Amino acid sequence: WVLNTCFFASRIKFMENEIKSLSAEIESLKNPQNLSSTPRLDELREENAKLKYRLNILKKSMQEERTLCSKSMLNINQRLQEVFGEAIRASCPELDNPPLAVTPNQQAKFGDYQCNSAMAMAQMLKAKGVKVNPREIAEKIIQNLPDNELIQKTEIAGPGFINIHLKRTFVSQLLSNLLVNGVVPPPLASRKKVVVDFSSPNIAKEMHVGHLRSTIIGESMCRLFEFLGYDVLRLNHVGDWGTQFGMLIAHLQDQFPDYLTVSPPIGDLQAFYKESKKRFDSEEDFKKRAYQCVVRLQSKEPDFIKAWKLICDVSRNEFQKVYDCLDVSIIERGESFYQDLMTEVVKKFEEKGFVQLDEGRKLVFVPGQSIPLTVVKSDGGYTYDTSDLAALHHRLFEEKADIIIYVTDSGQGTHFQVVFAAAQMIGWYDPQVTRVEHAGFGVVLGEDKKKFKTRSGDTVRLMDLLEEGLKRSMDKLQEKERDKVLTPDELIKAQRSVAFGCIKYADLSHNRINDYVFSFDKMLDDRGNTAAYLLYAFTRIRSIARLANIDEATLKKAAETTEVLLDHEKEWKLGKCILRFPEILQKILDDLLLHTLCDYLYELATTFTEFYDSCYCVEKDRQTGEVVKVNMWRMLLCDATATVMAKGFDILGINPVQRM
Ligand code: ARG
Repeated sequence: WVLNTCFFASRIKFMENEIKSLSAEIESLKNPQNLSSTPRLDELREENAKLKYRLNILKKSMQEERTLCSKSMLNINQRLQEVFGEAIRASCPELDNPPLAVTPNQQAKFGDYQCNSAMAMAQMLKAKGVKVNPREIAEKIIQNLPDNELIQKTEIAGPGFINIHLKRTFVSQLLSNLLVNGVVPPPLASRKKVVVDFSSPNIAKEMHVGHLRSTIIGESMCRLFEFLGYDVLRLNHVGDWGTQFGMLIAHLQDQFPDYLTVSPPIGDLQAFYKESKKRFDSEEDFKKRAYQCVVRLQSKEPDFIKAWKLICDVSRNEFQKVYDCLDVSIIERGESFYQDLMTEVVKKFEEKGFVQLDEGRKLVFVPGQSIPLTVVKSDGGYTYDTSDLAALHHRLFEEKADIIIYVTDSGQGTHFQVVFAAAQMIGWYDPQVTRVEHAGFGVVLGEDKKKFKTRSGDTVRLMDLLEEGLKRSMDKLQEKERDKVLTPDELIKAQRSVAFGCIKYADLSHNRINDYVFSFDKMLDDRGNTAAYLLYAFTRIRSIARLANIDEATLKKAAETTEVLLDHEKEWKLGKCILRFPEILQKILDDLLLHTLCDYLYELATTFTEFYDSCYCVEKDRQTGEVVKVNMWRMLLCDATATVMAKGFDILGINPVQRM
C-alpha cells in the first residue's frame, strides 16, 4: 500500500460532508413533530438505525485514515484513552468524573494494553450507595466501546481488568508510517511559548555540580519542548548583581589599579573571590569601601560598571567552556537585567497594599505561605526574592510565556513556592492558564554518599570533572582495545561521545527528585542502564544493515513497499515498544521527569536484543558465510528501532557515533 495523502484528504472531506448530511437527517427524524405526524414511523426508525450504523462505520474509517495519512506518530495510549473514555462515560453516566486508566502491558498474556477503570468505578458507585460488581462494569464498558481502528479484541480478567489486544495490521501500518516519515511529533493545537530558567551559576563563585545538574536537566527539557514544536526561550539567570560585587570591585582596584585601561589578568576568579572575602571579613576599612562600591555600582557610575563587566566576563568565559563541552545553548539574562523592573515591581506591591514594614525592611506576606518575601532590605537593596518577582513579571508580560520552568535544586522549593503564590495573589497569572513550575532536583553525592567533594575536601571544579570524564572514557576505550580498530579521529569522537554522554545520562536516568551518587565507574560501565551500553547497542543496530550490504536507498524503498510483519512474538513486542515513544514524551511533558525516557530507551534496547537473538535478519550460508537471504521486514524493524533511539538520544543531548 502506498500513502497518498491528497487522496485520503479528499476522501476525508467527502466523508465529513456525508456525515454532516446524515447527522442532519437523523436530527430531522428525531423531531417529534415529524414523527408523530407520519404513518411511516417504524420505517423511519429503522432507517434511523441504519444511518447511525453507517455513520459509525464512516467515523471509524475516517479515524483510521486520519491516523494513517498523518505524518506524525500516533500516541496509542492516548487514542485508547479516547476510545475507553467514551465507553466509560456511556456505561456510567451517573459518575461525574469516572477514572480513566489505560496502561501498556508488559506480559503478553494479558494483552497489549489494559484498562483498570472498572474497579475504581465500582468503589465510586459503592460510595454512592450502589453496589455493582466491577466485572459487570467492565462488561458494560466493553459493550459501549465505539467502533475504532486499533482494537482487535478485548477480554475481562480477574476482578475486572479489561485486556486490550491491538490490531496487528494497524500496528504494522503505524511502523511503516514511522519508517517513511521519520519521528514526527503530534501536531500542537497552538504554538506555545516556554521559558526554561536553568544552569544559572553565580558570577565569581564556583559553578558547582548542582549547576551541572541544572544545566543537563534544563538543556534536555528544552530539547524535548523544541522537538514537540514549542517556542523555547532558554534563560541563564546568572547571579550577576549583589553585594558580593562590592568587595570584588574594591579588591580589583587594589590588585589591578590600571584595570580601566589594561585588561586584568585574573586567571582564577574563585581564588580572587576567596581573597576578597577574606579581606572583607578581616579588614574594617576594606569592608567600608566594599559597601561604598556597591552603592556606586548600583548608581551606575561608569568606572564601576566597567569593573563589574570585567569580572562578569572572566566568569562568563569559564561557564562557556562547560557549555561547549556539553553542547548547551543558553541566553544569559542575569539578575542585573531586571534592575529597573525591580523598583517597579516593589511599587506594584506597595500600591496594592501588600507591603509591610519590619525594622526598615519591606516584606510581602502571602496567605498560606509560612515565610514572607523580603522585597527591600533595610539598606534599601533588593534581594533574590525581588529579582525573581521581577523576572517572573517580565516572563509573563514581556515574553508572554505559556509555560515557565525553573530548574534548580529542591532546596529552593520554598522560595519559588512563595514567589509563585505572591504573583498569583497580585493577579499576574492564573495557574489554570499559565503553567509556572519549579522542577527541583536532589543533591549530588560522592561515592561515599556524602556531599560531592574532592579528596582534599574542596568543591569540585566542573572543568576538572569533565576532563576526568574524558580521561576515564579513553582508558575504557583502550582497555577494550578500540584504539586498534578505530582511526584516531574516530577514537577522539568516541571518547567525547562516551564521556559527556555518560555524565549526562547518569544524571538524567535517575529520578531528579532524589539525591544522586556521582560515580564514573558506574556511568562508564557498558552493562546495565548506562549511556555506554546504549551507545554501543545503537552502533550495533546501525551496523546490521551495513554489514548486510543494504544501503539507505534500499531501506527507504523497502519502507514504502515491504509490509512490516509482526507474526513472531518478539517482532510484535518490539513493534509495540517502538511505537510507545510518543506516549513516553507526553508523560514527560506532564511531569518533567526525564528518567522515563532513559528507562524507555533501555527497555527498547533490551527488547531489541531479545528480538535480534531469536529472529534472523539475514540468513547466511553456514559454510561460506555468504548472505543467502535478507528478511527485509526485520531490517525495517532494526531501522525503526534505531530511528527512535536516535531521536531519544537527541532529546537527552547525547551524541551517538558511527563507530565505537
Ligand atoms: N543563581 C542561583 C543559584 O546558584 C540559581 C538561580 C535560579 N533561577 C532563578 N530564577 N532564581 O542558586
